[in-house]
Amino acid sequence: MTTQTVILTGLRAVYGTGSRRVTALDGVTTSFGSGTFTAVMGPSGSGKSTLLHCAAGLDRPTEGTVTVDGTRLDELGEDDLTRLRRDRIGFVFQAFNLVSTLTAAQNVELPLRLAGRRPPAREVTAALAAVGLAGRARHRPSELSGGEQQRVALARALITRPAVVFADEPTGALDSGTSRQVLRLLRTLVDDHGQTVVMVTHDPTAAAYADRVLLLADGRLADELTGGITAAVAALVAEPGLAPAGGSPQPAERSC
Ligand SMILES: Nc1ncnc2c1ncn2[C@@H]1O[C@H](COP(=O)(O)OP(=O)(O)OP(=O)(O)O)[C@@H](O)[C@H]1O
Ligand SMILES: [Mg+2]
Repeated sequence: MTTQTVILTGLRAVYGTGSRRVTALDGVTTSFGSGTFTAVMGPSGSGKSTLLHCAAGLDRPTEGTVTVDGTRLDELGEDDLTRLRRDRIGFVFQAFNLVSTLTAAQNVELPLRLAGRRPPAREVTAALAAVGLAGRARHRPSELSGGEQQRVALARALITRPAVVFADEPTGALDSGTSRQVLRLLRTLVDDHGQTVVMVTHDPTAAAYADRVLLLADGRLADELTGGITAAVAALVAEPGLAPAGGSPQPAERSC
């Protein structure tokens, strides 16, 4: 049986009060199995980023629980939560959150340094090479393009070998060639290293790299598409070897 790396139970997230009150998540229950790649889609404002932030322990939900790698986040104090985020969770967010005064290589090794480890230079070089940036190790973020910054953020998320990588529109700012590179890399994490990837995207081509697509609407899970449908999308974009094995289109499953 697949182990569930991330379990979300009855997640609600409410912002503001009175007339400014917004229910960003309205009772989401789902889980992300170890070694699976899930795409989260839905209209703007449907709660995708909020879901990712809560699942990654960056925001505390108003109600409900998040369990990552067997640990309930609501039972952790700030220090333990920070440690769990640093060691077990990778983030690739559209606002890349690179440290502007550090070089690409220093940004990549930052999570390990914060954990008190000094990674061998070859590990950092390998992570940068994996995202096609071997030649940019000594550049600072301001000397990199948006797509290159995004890939540095990805290399940084990879270096700790986290149990789960959360990516919020990781290809939103990239051209199609660079997008493919990033998506293949995420797929490799899942297929070759058994890591778990949860990716928000608006792009069906990007979603086709996933095993499962969750559709959010108004803060609720509206639908869930599994293998066959993803394979059908993959076939449409004709990326050889991309479609999951044995996937003739299946009817969509209601997840809630
Ligand atoms: N910090 C906040 N304070 C108040 N409201 C918020 C906050 N963060 C999100 N919201 C609201 O919650 C809802 C869900 O936002 P969220 O960012 O999760 O949407 P999204 O699906 O990621 O949208 P997009 O595709 O545009 O990125 C929106 O209506 C948004 O305005
Ligand atoms: Mg968003």
